[in-house]
Amino acid sequence: MEKRKVPHDFLWGGAVAAHQLEGGYDKGGKGISIADVMTAGANGKDRDITKGILPNHYYPNHEAIDFYTRYKEDIRLFAQMGFRCFRTSIAWTRIFPRGDEEKPNEEGLRFYDDLFDELLKYHIEPVITLSHFEMPFYLVEKYGGWRNRKLIDFFVTFAQTVMERYKDKVKYWMTFNEINNQASVQNPWSGWTNSGILYEKGEDVQTVLQQAVHYEMTASAMVVKLGHEINPEFQIGCMLAMVPFYPRTCSPQDELAAQTAMEHRLYSYGDLHVFGEHPAYMEAFRREHGICLDITDHDRKCLKEGCVDYIGISYYMSSTISSVETEGSTQVGDGIYVAPNPYVAKNDWGWQIDPQGLRYSLNLLHQRYHKPIFIVENGLGAYDKLENGTVHDSYRTDYLRQHILEMKKAMFLDGVLVMGYTPWGCIDLVSAGSGEMEKRYGFIYVDKDNHGNGTLERRKKDSFAWYKQVIESSGEIL
Ligand code: BG6
Repeated sequence: MEKRKVPHDFLWGGAVAAHQLEGGYDKGGKGISIADVMTAGANGKDRDITKGILPNHYYPNHEAIDFYTRYKEDIRLFAQMGFRCFRTSIAWTRIFPRGDEEKPNEEGLRFYDDLFDELLKYHIEPVITLSHFEMPFYLVEKYGGWRNRKLIDFFVTFAQTVMERYKDKVKYWMTFNEINNQASVQNPWSGWTNSGILYEKGEDVQTVLQQAVHYEMTASAMVVKLGHEINPEFQIGCMLAMVPFYPRTCSPQDELAAQTAMEHRLYSYGDLHVFGEHPAYMEAFRREHGICLDITDHDRKCLKEGCVDYIGISYYMSSTISSVETEGSTQVGDGIYVAPNPYVAKNDWGWQIDPQGLRYSLNLLHQRYHKPIFIVENGLGAYDKLENGTVHDSYRTDYLRQHILEMKKAMFLDGVLVMGYTPWGCIDLVSAGSGEMEKRYGFIYVDKDNHGNGTLERRKKDSFAWYKQVIESSGEIL
């Protein structure tokens, strides 16, 4: 299996998101996004979300790694590694600073024209996420984020503007990053990053969440349809956080608990994107829990008309579900607990490392959806040490090697169609979860620490040459 090559048109590359690397948070007419009001947390400490930008607080996304002014230098490095594609997002606030304007900000549009031209100069395909945890903060303040149906129109206007503008430069799109991430309502910030929602005391979280998701899904479907009209060549995907849930034991209760977790936290999102209708198990759940949503016939029609072309996934870890409380477990639902898995290792942030889980995941999605799958995030967050100007990160190449190997098994032994692979944070950037700089994923080291100190100088890590060889050999030399 080591020696097998992936097809020559396989999309090797790297992935980032605008708010995590661009910086320039107030440059070029950009408005404030929800990421701009998130302070730095730490390993094990959540980020704070402040009411606007406050003095004496450190907001790591404001400067990030200053890709906004250094993108040419960085793209040259990506080209040296042989990237065929580069996944990033368009910061909504560069195009519509408040989110509800009628006319876009030309300076923001020009920035992405230049960025995409620079990529295309090296034959690197841009792969674009429309909404990656960075909606305009104004839409939260004035409209309550995705609680509000009006957001559908604002998002569709944004998407239409950029899809028309870049129709000859960008072919691959995704609508909402990790749309299902917000199903883990235990993370206080997941409703914020995905939907601009902070749950209020006393409100029914499931009602608010599912309503927001319905609006997002409707908007996503409208954008898929519109995109295909703008350019029939467009490939428009969804993006799911793929965390497979294994039953902790072979007891039927654990098996059912794992199945329910998969439905609520993953499949209900994928099913809507791919099949274009609310699945029966969610309709039943809502009926049983007295949850009534605002869903119109027009919404249902839109959902049916805007099914996605491919499934984008992030894959970092697997998880284990128990139907009973066990040592170290956390309750995540009625009779559903996430429990530690004794068979897999963990990274320094407690994320379970499970390469075989990737093969398992690809098979699950392939069997359910029969759509091409694009692995648009995978990688190891780790503490790196700069030694003589480089980083000897064999732990990172080990992680990636094992995952690519499992991906190849899924492709060659199981018949799964995988379109491409873009490891997350191909250049060090600000962590979404903790706001740290020192949770590093990159092939390129960026000189900056958790407190914002550093020269921002870029250095190639050992993994840089390794990944170049992987791409050059079409995955044969791992
Ligand atoms: C995914 C997100 O959840 O995981 C990225 O799409 C994020 O935005 C990545 O950065 C890794 O998470 P973290 O918390 O290590 O940055």
